[in-house]
Amino acid sequence: MNLSTKFLGIKMVNPLVLASGILGVSGANLAAVCRDGCGAATTKSIWLKFHAGHANPTVLHLGNGNLINAVGLPHGGIEEARIEVENFRRLSKSPLFASIAGSRLEEYAATVEAVAKLKPDLIELNISCPNVEDEFGKPFACDMNLAAEATKLAKARCRGIPLAVKLSPNVANIAQIAKAVEAAGADAIVAINTVGPGMVIDIETAQPILANRVGGLSGPAIKPIAVKAVFDIYKAVKIPIIGVGGISSGANAIEIMQAGATLVGIGSSVVDGGSKVFAKIAKEMETWCKAHKIKNISEVVGLAHRN
Ligand code: DHB
Repeated sequence: MNLSTKFLGIKMVNPLVLASGILGVSGANLAAVCRDGCGAATTKSIWLKFHAGHANPTVLHLGNGNLINAVGLPHGGIEEARIEVENFRRLSKSPLFASIAGSRLEEYAATVEAVAKLKPDLIELNISCPNVEDEFGKPFACDMNLAAEATKLAKARCRGIPLAVKLSPNVANIAQIAKAVEAAGADAIVAINTVGPGMVIDIETAQPILANRVGGLSGPAIKPIAVKAVFDIYKAVKIPIIGVGGISSGANAIEIMQAGATLVGIGSSVVDGGSKVFAKIAKEMETWCKAHKIKNISEVVGLAHRN
């Protein structure tokens, strides 16, 4: 049994993807994570121009692998992205997913246009960061029409590179938003981004601890929310799903694939366990598949939808 898979024409050694924002700061870092066993790596969200991000503290460990963060999507801008992609390509043959951030629709459009020229294997539109205000004061992914508009603008500028749209769990009906994004031209859905935002208060100072006051929750506590979101989206759309949210074991990966994910993003557990978690998770998935006489990992996708 091997875990190799093809996603929108992209060949991968396994369905595991380094999620955006984790270790994806340099081409060398991204290549190292691929060497350690992920099937593809996602960059930090790329901005067209330098973006400072938030002041410290930006990340709090809540215990049991759970995190709250408001890094504020810091990034050096498109020239830095170009250098990092070039460095990655020199060091690795693995697929590279480029995540894109922005605060206005036209900015997303311009960034997609610039990033597409760097020829990543997939473009991930991050329209769901809970900590960066966009022009309408909430993430585009929280509004069906804005999510569709962002997707349409991006799709027209992707130069044929597959476009995945990263959705927010902080909505009443994520499946409805996935449907709108699919109709607008998305080739895949990434679900979910962090949950919240939430707040942690230091009771001695009576002040929120994060400099941004609020941040997105991630880690094992959000896995059931991610599994439910993927389950609902799988029922609503035909395009494939990259399931993300609190995955830290082979059993977790199989679970979110049974809900409907074709690929599995891993973020917070890399913060805790380093990039060796990919090899561990892949091995656990193989063991499970062998025990259940599964020859091809794609057989697992959507199993939870059988009557
Ligand atoms: C940040 C971005 C995200 O997409 C997220 O889910 C949480 C935090 C950030 O950079 O602040």
